[in-house]
Amino acid sequence: MTQDELKQAVAEAAVKYILPMLEDDTIVGVGTGSTANLFIDELAKYKNDFDGTVASSEASAERLKKHGIPVYELNSVGNIRVYVDGADESNEYLHLIKGGGAALTREKIVAACSEEFVCIADESKMVKVLGDFPLPVEVIPMARGYVARELVKLGGDPVYREGVITDNGNQILDVYNLDILNPAELEKSIDGIVGVVTNGLFAKRPADVLLLATKEGVKTLKR
Ligand code: 5RP
Repeated sequence: MTQDELKQAVAEAAVKYILPMLEDDTIVGVGTGSTANLFIDELAKYKNDFDGTVASSEASAERLKKHGIPVYELNSVGNIRVYVDGADESNEYLHLIKGGGAALTREKIVAACSEEFVCIADESKMVKVLGDFPLPVEVIPMARGYVARELVKLGGDPVYREGVITDNGNQILDVYNLDILNPAELEKSIDGIVGVVTNGLFAKRPADVLLLATKEGVKTLKR
């Protein structure tokens, strides 16, 4: 099976997983990226079975709207029943690295507001220790140099993701060479640097469920 086929399989599994949660008033949180895009396309088949969505990026909002699925502002909805999103890496505790698509801040906000966070990924994303994938950090543009110097003090090698502006008008530093042995502690330390908007570690609010597409089928991992 190719990686694309694995992503398709997990997108279908995610829709199957959330189907029992869909009611007339259900709001679904929708993530960002190629796996989330496939999930959107599958979800569209059930668009009359729930109220609507909150999207974690402008790109996902546009794709949802093209399918005729309502997209609400987060501030105008009460409760997000379930959030479905991809990841760049996951460990066995369902701590994640996210932000490869630069949507980490809105992703973290939607995850925080959701009753259940279902991560969808192919098996290449499962790791023993987080950090092979460079950790994305969203920064206020004027603070980029300062934040980069502080990240070096934490043992990382930050690289400016040139040409990328986030949906919030900010910039991204990708931090290489971090061995992330304590994700929750590092998440807090990086968030404490002045000028950091968010970092891509999801340890304080990890996924609740990981649907992992493998060649043997889609596995369901729970915390
Ligand atoms: C976007 C993300 C994505 O979920 C992550 O990059 C995985 O993307 P893909 O499904 O394309 O591999 O965090 O900011």
